[in-house]
Amino acid sequence: MKAFRVLVIFLYVLVTLEPQETNAEIDGKTGKLINQANENGPYLGVVIPNLFEMNPLLESSSFNSTNLTIDFAGRRFRFGTIENKEVILVLTGLGMINAGITTQLLVSLFDVEGVLHYGIAGNVNPSLNIGDVAIPQYWSHHALWNWQRYGDGPDDELALEVNGDYTREIGYIKFANYSTNITNCNSHDNLLNNVWYQPEEVFPIDGTPEERQHAFWVPIDTHYFEISKKLEGMKLDGCINSTTCLSTTPKVASVLRGASASIFIENAAYRSFIQGKFNVSVVDMESAAVALVCFQQRVPFITFRALSGDGSARPSTTFASLAVNNSVRVVVEFIKNFSAYLTQM
Ligand SMILES: *[C@@H]1O[C@H](CO)[C@@H](O)[C@H](O)[C@H]1NC(C)=O
Ligand SMILES: *[C@@H]1O[C@H](CO)[C@@H](O)[C@H](O)[C@H]1NC(C)=O
Ligand SMILES: *[C@@H]1O[C@H](CO)[C@@H](O)[C@H](O)[C@H]1NC(C)=O
Ligand SMILES: *[C@@H]1O[C@H](CO)[C@@H](O)[C@H](O)[C@H]1NC(C)=O
Ligand SMILES: *[C@@H]1O[C@H](CO)[C@@H](O)[C@H](O)[C@H]1NC(C)=O
Ligand SMILES: *[C@@H]1O[C@H](CO)[C@@H](O)[C@H](O)[C@H]1NC(C)=O
Ligand SMILES: *[C@@H]1O[C@H](CO)[C@@H](O)[C@H](O)[C@H]1NC(C)=O
Ligand SMILES: *[C@@H]1O[C@H](CO)[C@@H](O)[C@H](O)[C@H]1NC(C)=O
Repeated sequence: MKAFRVLVIFLYVLVTLEPQETNAEIDGKTGKLINQANENGPYLGVVIPNLFEMNPLLESSSFNSTNLTIDFAGRRFRFGTIENKEVILVLTGLGMINAGITTQLLVSLFDVEGVLHYGIAGNVNPSLNIGDVAIPQYWSHHALWNWQRYGDGPDDELALEVNGDYTREIGYIKFANYSTNITNCNSHDNLLNNVWYQPEEVFPIDGTPEERQHAFWVPIDTHYFEISKKLEGMKLDGCINSTTCLSTTPKVASVLRGASASIFIENAAYRSFIQGKFNVSVVDMESAAVALVCFQQRVPFITFRALSGDGSARPSTTFASLAVNNSVRVVVEFIKNFSAYLTQM
């Protein structure tokens, strides 16, 4: 009897300690919730920049909340189903660091089979319009720069280039092409000189730790791309109410490239510059961070971004809500088709 009690206590201690032992900084209660949640996986992770973009999904009849939320490191992970597929929704907050951290937490803590990212974005492709939902095949972070010393030109070596830290392969912006007031008064030279775009240093989960690799264009998952191509005929909302409509019928468009940085670009010159240089169609402030984390963790991902402005006019909130709703509809339809695709395989 006594031995039995000791055994029970021993087992109890083992069970309650186990989550803490596996995740050193995760408290026991949270660790337990995480382990329980993972028993219902795998999940599709849905990564969302801000409330304005998350609320329409929470309110959508396609989302069934299980009412389970797990808070960790300032993030809230919300559980439910979309079209009967188990999902975890999480809000990142603005910009690349927030998006990267949140995506990393999502894929490290939970049994996630893929990551879907959606929101609004800026348009840089003349054949796309406000309200369209763009699905780029490749993403890059366009703000890791090597800013060249004044007086140096394209033929001069970059700082630390010999170490393999930086490269001239991807291309540069010559600021002298653009009018600016930061000029040297004597020579009229442009003190801003050149910046050289750099690939991101990446450390893949199946690589050697601390041994860096590089990535500039990160592709979305090929199966997800295939599924998303089928969404191109989808009908989207074009009107806010009975009298106010977009001038074009919104569409879902597969495009080649998107680019992100923690920079809000309302500048038409810079938009047309990166469009010309990189042939990007959309710019935003999070997608490439989600892409880079998923790429390194070998988790499939895709991004859906609805266009809410093109830099030619002042940002308008009139159509932003319509654009968000269109991106939500496309994510939901993707998940519906995703489940069909899985049962088909
Ligand atoms: C939501 O859950 C209820 C109860 O389980 C179910 O009847 C309904 O079909 C679900 N709706 C969706 C959109 O998944
Ligand atoms: C979640 O909470 C709401 C409001 O309290 C309730 O109506 C709903 O049935 C709950 N859903 C589940 C799956 O428990
Ligand atoms: C910028 O200036 C360089 C050299 O003067 C020129 O070759 C290039 O075409 C210009 N680019 C743009 C976008 O005007
Ligand atoms: C430079 O600054 C002056 C005074 O602040 C302004 O009047 C002028 O338009 C500016 N020029 C350019 C090219 O931005
Ligand atoms: C439709 O929305 C526009 C823009 O918000 C508004 O100015 C207009 O009054 C609305 N019309 C109706 C009929 O609600
Ligand atoms: C540039 O991007 C557009 C839009 O995604 C695509 O249709 C076109 O093929 C691309 N052009 C090149 C040269 O890659
Ligand atoms: C977007 O969806 C929300 C919530 O579902 C709704 O309240 C709002 O009116 C929609 N906006 C437009 C422009 O249709
Ligand atoms: C995928 O979505 C499109 C557009 O909504 C639809 O026409 C098509 O039937 C779907 N395909 C599958 C396999 O569910």
